[in-house]
Amino acid sequence: MEKIKILLVESIHPVAKEKLEEEGFEVELKNYSPDEDELTELVKNFHALGIRSKTLVTKKILASHSHLYAVGAFCIGTNQVELVAANQLGVPVFNAPYSNTRSVAEMVIAELVILARQLGDRNTLAHSGGWMKSADGSREIRGKTLGIVGYGHIGSQVSVLAESMGLKVVYYDIVKRLPLGNAQVCSTFSELLGLSDFVTLHVPETPQTKDMMGASELRKMKQGAYLINASRGTVVVIEDLVKALKEKHIAGAAVDVFPEEPSSNKEKFSSLLQGIPNVFLTPHIGGSTEEAQYAIGLEVAESFRRFLKVGSTSGAVNFPQVDLPVIAGAHRIINVHKNEPGVLGEINGVVSKFGANIQGQFLSTDNRIGYLVMDVEKAEASSLSKEISQLSRSIKTRVVY
Ligand code: NAI
Repeated sequence: MEKIKILLVESIHPVAKEKLEEEGFEVELKNYSPDEDELTELVKNFHALGIRSKTLVTKKILASHSHLYAVGAFCIGTNQVELVAANQLGVPVFNAPYSNTRSVAEMVIAELVILARQLGDRNTLAHSGGWMKSADGSREIRGKTLGIVGYGHIGSQVSVLAESMGLKVVYYDIVKRLPLGNAQVCSTFSELLGLSDFVTLHVPETPQTKDMMGASELRKMKQGAYLINASRGTVVVIEDLVKALKEKHIAGAAVDVFPEEPSSNKEKFSSLLQGIPNVFLTPHIGGSTEEAQYAIGLEVAESFRRFLKVGSTSGAVNFPQVDLPVIAGAHRIINVHKNEPGVLGEINGVVSKFGANIQGQFLSTDNRIGYLVMDVEKAEASSLSKEISQLSRSIKTRVVY
């Protein structure tokens, strides 16, 4: 078996290297984001590539070396990878979509108190020599109603934490979600808006959620209620929020995500929300904690282990999903092929020519490719794999154990 080498760029948390080395992989870390030409050159020496959000993984890079087996995005999004090209070239792409759930939920809980007590403004004033000691407009969050829009991973965590601080929780989701604790479901978005002292948004970016919080929704919120958005910048119409805040219909807002965000810390940030009282702005840091980075490092390293050693593709964002246990005493061959009629017959023809006894065969497909996992008894797995790899419609073939 060849020694699998993994390249991790962009200062991925060192726990990933540690875990992968424990599994016997050879790992090289780079603390910057190589450009396309450099990465094309670098990848030639590796079987798997780990990146974060800045490194672009183009078709050129993916096609540069047939021994590139997998890409791991050690972050949430995967827009930086040409996913269709990766799929067609037989390269699954893994990410860690839920490793920062708790980080976002904790920030939202903090923001409930920050808004209710105007802590942002008082902090800014105190730093510049002001002293605003007054109880006017300062409230406890205990006993207030929190409306959660999108009761998925983050929304449901916020729900549990908020109840433990004495809030009443209502939620709205387009999918039927089991209420946690004493949370109560609302049958419409409007119902939630009318009931809540705080509204927090935890929906994904979809055509349906674009501008879902605009002038008419803000008007349906209670007079003096607060809005929190740590989901996606496209969900709230900023101009309408500015108007509702200036008219004092909304008493404050905490916003972590914006329709346009600087692409680096060096770029200037500007928003119509700047300078409005009790508006707490943060630079898309809801999920950015050391714990989340650590969890991401562990999660993607585990996806690499499972794919490279077992052939499991579960969790890959661009690939047919297969998750099978290890079969003792067998060898496992994985084959990615073009999803065309007759291709399986060809592969099985090779298997019978070899007289290999198949212990298990599992196929999962999408409209472009098929992913075949074969457990064979005979020790000739590597020559069988070599012959299958030479079939014209095979894209990638490898013996995993
Ligand atoms: P999730 O997929 O677990 O949950 C999203 C929920 O929203 C699902 O239950 C879904 O059914 C629901 N939903 C979808 N469309 C809806 C609609 N039109 N109305 C009501 N509900 C709807 O996602 P997760 O992990 O909870 O993330 C939520 C959001 O938080 C995403 O937009 C994600 O990008 C964002 N996020 C922001 C971070 C930050 O740093 N601020 C970090 C991590 C995630």
